Amino acid sequence: MAKKIILTGDRPTGRLHLGHYVGSLRRRVELQNSGEFDRIFIMIADAQALTDNADNPEKVRQNVIEVALDYLSAGLDPARSTLFIQSQVPELCELAFYYMNLVTVQRLQRNPTVKAEIQLRGFSENAVEGDTAQRAGIPVGFFTYPISQASDITAFKATTVPAGDDQEPMVEQTREIVHKFNSVYGPTLVEPEILLPDNAACMRLPGTDGKAKMSKSLGNCIYLSDTADEVKKKVMGMYTDPDHLRVEDPGKVEGNTVFTYLDAFCRPEHMAKYLPDYASLDELKAHYRRGGLGDVKVKRLLIAVLNETLDPIRARRKEFEGRIEEVYRILEEGSAAARATAAATLDEVRRAMRINYFDDTELIEQQAKAYANR
Ligand code: TRP
Repeated sequence: MAKKIILTGDRPTGRLHLGHYVGSLRRRVELQNSGEFDRIFIMIADAQALTDNADNPEKVRQNVIEVALDYLSAGLDPARSTLFIQSQVPELCELAFYYMNLVTVQRLQRNPTVKAEIQLRGFSENAVEGDTAQRAGIPVGFFTYPISQASDITAFKATTVPAGDDQEPMVEQTREIVHKFNSVYGPTLVEPEILLPDNAACMRLPGTDGKAKMSKSLGNCIYLSDTADEVKKKVMGMYTDPDHLRVEDPGKVEGNTVFTYLDAFCRPEHMAKYLPDYASLDELKAHYRRGGLGDVKVKRLLIAVLNETLDPIRARRKEFEGRIEEVYRILEEGSAAARATAAATLDEVRRAMRINYFDDTELIEQQAKAYANR
């Protein structure tokens, strides 16, 4: 049977937050523990992080360990998942270099995630060299990162990429590259599929301010490493329904961040434990809609649920924080294992491309013979 292989990862530009957790991290741990996959590769994408942090390489360097600590504390287990650092697998660059010939500038320009990030980063599409304007042009490395991401995924022959919907255009572009490569050079690479979160609240967890997405630059994050007190403060200040002024008022659940978080985190056993008067979260929502239920009660539930979820993660983090050298050793061993897999794929790729000159005795003999007969 065909192997089932996972590859996914994160840019090390900061600690991971609840958006990362419900969007992908929690799922990865479940998939790891399900035993359904032959191999799981989890990559700290430091090289990709540099594509839009050219001015701040030290931030990327310092955050590699933060992301590793978040991975380990969330339950990724190095005995079952290969944790590695992107830059330590140089085969990824080689593969990306070959893929660059299979993708047009126009196709990259149509990638919706690249487009959105150009806006977000304030890169200018028509900056002129030597321009005194504030806006910087688009770095070539940034522009081509979808190609690099295709090599991340395919170097491991990943079948499955657990990620948020912002990664959909990347996986789509990867599939196109695989298709193109296989049709030019013969069947070699595997077309991956994205595995999206299974509920809407997890797909795009809003920030505590109710803004579209939890993101470090907006300062609206709850981090996996936040203390119970920080979580309490952040939830108490969270955006709810601005028209729900008095407890008696009917309230809106849609677009109410506290309820969105409950959708993402609250399980039936939490209701039974913290609010046994309600049979389910749906009943709590119904009461809120009717009126007579105050925000504070709902927020207290969320604080309890979040802290129950985060407590074991915090405890594991504390442990690993005291074993930093060992965490680097885990990454070093993971990177060596990842490199071995990527190198094996690159051997196949070079053979398919027929650039394995020194092993190609047929080519050498044929050309030698041709010259001998002149
Ligand atoms: N683009 C991902 C992010 O922004 C990180 C990443 C790099 C990735 N390579 C990947 C994710 C391959 C999934 C598969 O965090």
